[in-house]
Amino acid sequence: MADKKAILTVDGIKESLELPVYEGTLGPDVVDVRSLTGKGLFTYDPGFVSTAATESKITYIDGDAGVLLHRGYPIEQLAEKSDYLETCYLLLHGELPSPAEKETFVSTIKNHTMVHEQLSHFFNGFRRDAHPMAIMCGVVSALSAFYHDSLDIHDDKHRVISAHRLIAKMPTLAAMVYKYSIGQPFMYPRNDLSYSENFLHMMFNTPCEDREISPILAKAMDRIFLLHADHEQNASTSTVRLAGSTGANPFACIAAGIAALWGPAHGGANEAVLHMLAEIGDESNIDKFIARAKDKEDPFRLMGFGHRVYKNFDPRAKVMKQTCDEVLAELGMEDDPMLKIAMKLEKIATEDEYFIKRGLYPNVDFYSGIILKAIGIPTELFTVIFATGRTPGWIAHWNEMISSDYRIGRPRQLYTGHQRRDYPA
Ligand code: CMC
Repeated sequence: MADKKAILTVDGIKESLELPVYEGTLGPDVVDVRSLTGKGLFTYDPGFVSTAATESKITYIDGDAGVLLHRGYPIEQLAEKSDYLETCYLLLHGELPSPAEKETFVSTIKNHTMVHEQLSHFFNGFRRDAHPMAIMCGVVSALSAFYHDSLDIHDDKHRVISAHRLIAKMPTLAAMVYKYSIGQPFMYPRNDLSYSENFLHMMFNTPCEDREISPILAKAMDRIFLLHADHEQNASTSTVRLAGSTGANPFACIAAGIAALWGPAHGGANEAVLHMLAEIGDESNIDKFIARAKDKEDPFRLMGFGHRVYKNFDPRAKVMKQTCDEVLAELGMEDDPMLKIAMKLEKIATEDEYFIKRGLYPNVDFYSGIILKAIGIPTELFTVIFATGRTPGWIAHWNEMISSDYRIGRPRQLYTGHQRRDYPA
């Protein structure tokens, strides 16, 4: 029950409306407006900036303080002390695993990494130069055509198996997309490797050559996955929830999330960062691009800067910057011209009045884009990596919704079109 209430008076409605106000564990109170529709009123909130669409126990963000907690644990501590698969377990189950639970979880994921052999034939239907996200939307959705044994969303066990399958198969599919684009044979996963080592193996090894995987690069990959694992009710997660609210199967819902992630204002930003760096081209052009970013008449924005929620700093970006430095040192790439532009841009933007005043700091995608480029991952694949990392978050939210008392998502509108009119005689 709510202890607090909000009173709403509306012109034309005689009595004041009493709305319950709920307190979360952390964060702002929420006003329960569900009774408004009975009074013939809707709330108006384009972009959902003031709307809590759901109750959730998974992730908490305080954008002003730069705080990100998964199940209560700060992201910095998870990045330092945990690893990606343990964080997946935490998101899915609500608690960190015991050593035995972790061992079982890691082994289960490893045993689901292969995809159905017939799925590999789907790739031939795509052009080799197709955008990897286009292929991912298709093949992830197609998983629902292969795993009929786990599609009953009201069966807890089915939901768990689907979660394991998705987390396990996403890197395999991501690497297959890459191999297809360059015309190399798909590499089967190797169960003796860790999650991120295995991903790098499937990406960069060939049947002719099994190169050793650098532990620093594998650690960086693990961090990239971990730092993207969840981010509460963002556009793609809300898309997964909305699709899931119709009763759609988990593979279809995650495919919907992948589509929503694709856009440059969301997951596509890491790719957009690299395109922007290429467009800037030379350090001497930076001032010109900074001026364009500030010009209200120019649609250009500095990609990798700013965030809808973080208006102080992005706690993931801090950790990512440290990993970025480690990777560049490991690869001896400190003098790469494009990376030099990135570093200079970061310095100027973080000292410039325009960006400081608006709380526009480098976000996680600014650094992840640079790291992925340095590792040798092609730009077009960046958002696929983001999608791979985000998969446990999407599933945790989908599962939380399906396990709760949910209704189909159905927003309303402020209609400003024509009045009723008759078709011309
Ligand atoms: N470069 C220049 N100016 C900017 C930028 C930018 N990257 N981002 C915001 N602004 C300005 C904007 O023009 C506005 O200025 P004013 O108040 O003078 O009109 C002010 O800052 C607030 O912008 P907004 O559009 O109201 O902010 P928003 O919260 O709606 O947008 C954003 C957030 C992430 C879409 C936006 O900052 C952006 O387009 N950034 C570049 C794309 C990017 O890096 N996206 C990745 C986000 S992190 C990954 C994820 O979590 O999905």
